[in-house]
Amino acid sequence: MLKGVILAGGLGTRLYPLTKVTSKNLLPVGNEPMVFHCVRQLTSADITDILIVTNPQYVGDFVNALGSGKDFGCEFTYRVQEEAKGIAHALALAEGFANNGKIAVLLGDNIFETSIQHAVEDFQAQQRGARVLLKQVPDPERYGVAVLNGNDRIVAIEEKPEHPKSDYAVVGAYFYDASVFDIIRTVEPSARGEYEVTAVNNAYMHRGELEYSFVRGKWVDAGTFDSLSEAHQILLNSLDWH
Ligand code: G1P
Repeated sequence: MLKGVILAGGLGTRLYPLTKVTSKNLLPVGNEPMVFHCVRQLTSADITDILIVTNPQYVGDFVNALGSGKDFGCEFTYRVQEEAKGIAHALALAEGFANNGKIAVLLGDNIFETSIQHAVEDFQAQQRGARVLLKQVPDPERYGVAVLNGNDRIVAIEEKPEHPKSDYAVVGAYFYDASVFDIIRTVEPSARGEYEVTAVNNAYMHRGELEYSFVRGKWVDAGTFDSLSEAHQILLNSLDWH
């Protein structure tokens, strides 16, 4: 059975002082704290065993906001990421939870207009490997960017390239088989000192095991004031599938 992982660490420095006393992922978006949106993405796709990874100063806030999972029809497990060393580093904490099964991973600040259930189904039908979600964006240099070849295969993912080779952002929703944890152990820190999720995805690509789906509808990484405001509008206008 597919389990869910929500990565809700990070200090949200770009949103200071909104993040002075709490996590970015608990700020209001639409009519709920941001992380509720990730939870509902997973539960709407029948993923009800969910790990929340966050940093030490906010873990209590997450437990207060989310509780056991009873109110959401799911069950939460919590883990603490002691050092902010990147997405792959946070994901490594999910190894015991995953227990050799497949996982769906969401970044706690990614907001979608519609459900990602179609991608969950695509991944369930996949024998092995990983699946990422792509979205055409006007500002790809802010994200991981996928380069596709003539056969529509991903041939590279570049993390925040100065000169992006495409406008396909790799959004913060990833699907992995159990080999992800062995792959993470091979990842070296990037120039910004982080264990990048892009390095993990590229490792799957080199094995010929990286597939993708497209995001349907709008998507936003709500890490800045402008994108937080956009996320707010998106969710106020699209609460029907929740
Ligand atoms: C992270 C990933 C990037 C991805 C983005 C989506 O960026 O590194 O590849 O496109 O999330 O939100 P960061 O949040 O570290 O800027």
